[in-house]
Amino acid sequence: MDATSPATVIERTTGVGGELVLRRAGDHYEIISNGVFLMDTRNGASERLLVRAATETLDGPSRITIGGLGAGFSLAEALRLPGTAHVTVVEREPAVVAWHATVLRPWSEGGLDDPRVTVARADLLDWLTDPRDGAFDALCLDIDNGPDWTVTPGNARLYSGAGLDLLTRRLTPRGVLAVWSAGRAPAFHDLLRTRFTRVEARPVPALRGEPDIVYLAREPRPPRSTNPGHPGM
Ligand SMILES: C[S@@+](CC[C@H](N)C(=O)[O-])C[C@H]1O[C@@H](n2cnc3c(N)ncnc32)[C@H](O)[C@@H]1O
Repeated sequence: MDATSPATVIERTTGVGGELVLRRAGDHYEIISNGVFLMDTRNGASERLLVRAATETLDGPSRITIGGLGAGFSLAEALRLPGTAHVTVVEREPAVVAWHATVLRPWSEGGLDDPRVTVARADLLDWLTDPRDGAFDALCLDIDNGPDWTVTPGNARLYSGAGLDLLTRRLTPRGVLAVWSAGRAPAFHDLLRTRFTRVEARPVPALRGEPDIVYLAREPRPPRSTNPGHPGM
């Protein structure tokens, strides 16, 4: 890799979430979405850990969701794990999916052709409200630079109480929620604690600056009653 190579634009298109740009710098590629530098192919350590950590307590075959596809590190890692029975990839940008048939294929390692993989070309927030795909043992989410740095304003709903309620409904009883963040997100961490019994923030050293964080949440707390329950009312 030559980190100093100037980047050249390979493709510029109108995406679902705003302008989408694929750039090449030396041997590597960069994805810029809606003006936000979202992903590159240089180092996938924390994107791989997102999946490994989410599945480390699961025994037997597991059903995994990966949202979104990006450079494909998380997908390739999921397919390497011996317990992976099925992976649903939720990605809203058709161009990102298409790049994995061409220039990004080496990083997803051809994973989109694996018979265990289904691609949902959808906005993750919409997909979560549709129960047809059922529940998952691991929800591995990396659609933004983190809860405090979203690529589009609408994505912020994912990290709200309402978003966590949607996510909780899509977990199996042994299910694990894993969320990627470029740095600590203390308010999100606190919110996770209100919804889950076991919450962990796992740091991953980054090439530059503060570590990336993988948030892991297990054992959802029972939903709070909406009935105020005053005796005699
Ligand atoms: C940081 S990249 C994912 C990196 C990935 N974990 C990897 O291993 O390379 C974020 C991806 O999420 C997608 N995305 C952003 N917002 C989304 C949304 N609301 N629904 C589905 N996909 C979304 C982007 O198009 C992009 O492909």
